[in-house]
Amino acid sequence: MSALVTRIESHVGRPLTAQEIFEITRARETSLSRLLMLYITTGLLFMLLPGTFLGVWNLLEISSHRAVTSVSAAWIQAHGHAQIFGWISTFILGIGFYSIPKLRRMNPFALRSAWTCWALWTAGIALRWFTGVYRWHWRLLLPFSAAFELAAFLIFFSSVSKHRPQDSGRQALEKWVVVVITASIGFLVTLLVNLGACVLLAARAASPDLPLGFDQRFLVLETWGFLVPFVWGFSAKWLPVFLGLRSNREAFLLAALALNSAGVVTAMAGRTKVAAIVLCCGIFIAAWALRLLEPAQQAAKTKGVHSSFPLFIRLAYFWAITAAVLGIWASLVPESQGIWGASRHALTVGFLAMMVFGVGQRILPAFSGMRLLYSTRLMFVSLALLAVGCLLRVSSEIVAYQGFAAWAWSFLPASAVIEMTAVTIFAINLIATFKSRPPSAIQ
Ligand code: HEM
Repeated sequence: MSALVTRIESHVGRPLTAQEIFEITRARETSLSRLLMLYITTGLLFMLLPGTFLGVWNLLEISSHRAVTSVSAAWIQAHGHAQIFGWISTFILGIGFYSIPKLRRMNPFALRSAWTCWALWTAGIALRWFTGVYRWHWRLLLPFSAAFELAAFLIFFSSVSKHRPQDSGRQALEKWVVVVITASIGFLVTLLVNLGACVLLAARAASPDLPLGFDQRFLVLETWGFLVPFVWGFSAKWLPVFLGLRSNREAFLLAALALNSAGVVTAMAGRTKVAAIVLCCGIFIAAWALRLLEPAQQAAKTKGVHSSFPLFIRLAYFWAITAAVLGIWASLVPESQGIWGASRHALTVGFLAMMVFGVGQRILPAFSGMRLLYSTRLMFVSLALLAVGCLLRVSSEIVAYQGFAAWAWSFLPASAVIEMTAVTIFAINLIATFKSRPPSAIQ
C-alpha cells in the first residue's frame, strides 16, 4: 500500500492526509474483495454446470449401461477439466491474488492485471469445454484455449512474484511459501504440458480427446503435482491457527514435498508402481508434519463456521491417504479401472473438494469484505453430504467397476445425487454470503 500512496503523493505533489490514506486503503480493499468474489463466483459456475452436472450425467449413463466405456472420453475429460481448472484452479487464482501479497506483506499489484488474468482464464476454460464437447473448429480453438490458460497463469505468476516482500533481505522464505511456490511450478508445468498436448492433438490427432495412457499420467500431474501441494502449503499456513495445532514439523513437510515431486516425475515417466508407493509415503509424512492426527494445543477457532470444521479437515486428509493407498492397489492389479477411478475421486472429492468446502467457507466470508458466512448449518450439511457421497462413490465404484458384485451399480446414481446436492448447497451458501451485507455496513 505504501508504494501506491507514494505514487499518488508524487502525482498530486503533496503528502496525503491520514483521512485520504484511509479512504485509499478502503477503496482498494473493496476492489480486491469484488475481484475475489468474481473469481469465486466464476469457479462456482464452472463447478456446477460443466463440472458437476456433466459428471452426474456421465455417472448415470455409466451406471445404467453398467460399463465405463458407455460414455465418451470427451465428456469425461470435459468434466475433469471443468472441475480441476474451472473450479479449484479459479479459486486458487482468486485467493492467490487476494491473499498472497497480504500474507507476505508484499507491495500490492496492479488490479488491471488481475482482471485481464480472469478474462483470459475464463475464456480458455470455456473454450476448452466447448471444443471438447461440441468439436466446433477444434483444431484451431483447442490450442487457443490452452494458450489463454497459460497466458492467464503467467500474468498471475508475474503479479504475485515480481513484488518483493517489504522486509525482504531480512528473512528467509517461510516454509509454507516454499510449498506454495513448488505448487505454482507444478501449475505452470501442467499448463505447459497441456498446451503441448493440445498443439499435438490439433496437428496430428483425429479428435480433441487426450489418449487414455497420456490422460492417466496427466491426471497425476494436475492433481498430485499441482493441487495437492497447494493444499499442503495453505494447510501449513492456516491450520495451526484454525485448528489450534502445534507448529508444523517444517523439515518433514519439505521432505514430504520432495517425495511428492519425485512421485509425480516417476509417474510421468511411466513407473506407476514406484510412483504410487512414493506418493503414498509423501502424504503420510505430510499429515504427520502438519500434526493433524495429534491432539490440538489450543481450542480450534470455529467462530463463524460450524463446530464440526476441524473434524472435516482431518477427514479430508484421511481421504488423501485413502487415495494414495488405493493408488498402490490399482498399480498392482491388471484391469484396475474401478480402483483408479475410486482413488481419483477419493483425492478429488474426498480431499480437494472437502478442503475447499471447509477452508473456503472459513476464509471467503472475511475475504469478501468482512462478511459472515450465510449459514453454518448449511456448511455442515454440505460437508456431511459430501462425506457420505464420497464414501458411497469410492466403495461402490470399486465393487461395481471391478465386477465384484452387481448390486453396487445401483448405489452409484445415489452417490452422484448426494454429491451434487452437497456442491449445490456449498454454492448457495457462498453466493448468499456474497449477497449479504457485511455487519459493518449495517450499523
Ligand atoms: C457430483 C460429483 C461428481 C461426479 C458424479 C463425478 C463423476 C465422474 C465420472 C463418472 C467420471 C468418469 C470416470 C470414472 O467413472 O471414474 C469422472 C472422472 C473425473 N472426475 Fe469426477 N465426478 C464428480 C466430482 C468431481 C470433482 C469434485 C472433481 C475435482 C475436483 C472431479 C474430477 C474428475 C476427474 C479429474 C476425472 C477424470 C477425467 C479424465 O479422465 O480426464 N470429479 N467423474
